[in-house]
Amino acid sequence: MESHPPSSPGPAHEAVLLREVIDLLSPGAGEVILDCTAGDGGHAAALGRALGEIGTVIVCDLDAGCLAQAAGAVRGAVAPGVNVVEINANYAEAPRRLVDLGLAANLVIADLGFSSRQMDDAERGFSIRRDGPLDMRYCPSGPTAADYVNTLPAGELEDILRDLGEERKARAIVSKILAAREEQPIQTTGELAAIVRAVVAPFGRNRTHKIDPATRTFQALRIAVNDELGNLDALLSAVTRQAAQRASGASGGWLAAGARVGVISFHSLEDRRVKQAYSTVAGRGCGRLLTKKPVEASAEEVARNPRSRSAKLRVLEFIS
Ligand SMILES: C[S@@+](CC[C@H](N)C(=O)[O-])C[C@H]1O[C@@H](n2cnc3c(N)ncnc32)[C@H](O)[C@@H]1O
Repeated sequence: MESHPPSSPGPAHEAVLLREVIDLLSPGAGEVILDCTAGDGGHAAALGRALGEIGTVIVCDLDAGCLAQAAGAVRGAVAPGVNVVEINANYAEAPRRLVDLGLAANLVIADLGFSSRQMDDAERGFSIRRDGPLDMRYCPSGPTAADYVNTLPAGELEDILRDLGEERKARAIVSKILAAREEQPIQTTGELAAIVRAVVAPFGRNRTHKIDPATRTFQALRIAVNDELGNLDALLSAVTRQAAQRASGASGGWLAAGARVGVISFHSLEDRRVKQAYSTVAGRGCGRLLTKKPVEASAEEVARNPRSRSAKLRVLEFIS
């Protein structure tokens, strides 16, 4: 898989809900951990350390630069007897990869979305405030956000902004985008942000917006470009199927008996899916919810790390 140039060395990504993740997933000696979204390796390193002397940490990330960063952090944190396995792939492929490797995970964490390091690197095109190429991909294959805004028909763009960004002014923003791209292609994050701000009440002028008015448009495009909901659905389907197989007494598969699966989501479109999938598993008697309600960050964590503000952690445990 191709890789982006490594993100510039900015401040590390701070793992959200770290204590809660460790308490709820509760790693034990000899267990196998799968971190679907390794990022800077904060969760994986802390979970790996909690394994004690032996076990396995599998770090997966689509972004080769993040994966290298995470693997290094984990290797520096765990005991010499803990194996570290790297998977540079979409986490939707992780179940098959684990089966191919002959590994079954006892615990899984997926901390969705982008890392602070990716956000802070203007070259990656996630940032509203730092001008850079309008890219937004976690790995350099497939269409970029610039391809989306410059080539999609108006109706499709409008659906993306409305459905994935819950942007009420989707139609007006899209008509501005269409007018702009007729003049010349929109190539940078700064150009797109300026177009959106010209439609949605400008940030800072009348102070009606606590967040930058372009936030919802950027979120929608990022979700679409990376098929974030499709990937989450694939992971949750694999969890649901495996829970049913385990409950029926079948052996094998990518998740071990009694597996704990934690997902940290950052917006309602994701959290709704996790809640639904976990309720299905629990309702069929194949698992139990270790979080009846999603766990959220404390006021102290939000003050230290504003990114944790919208984080919601749900954890499922297989019955067998
Ligand atoms: C929020 S960060 C994870 C941070 C990590 N938990 C930590 O403690 O540093 C999310 C990571 O998931 C990766 N990612 C996003 N979508 C992915 C996917 N479908 N498959 C694999 N990795 C993905 C991103 O590249 C990013 O590094």
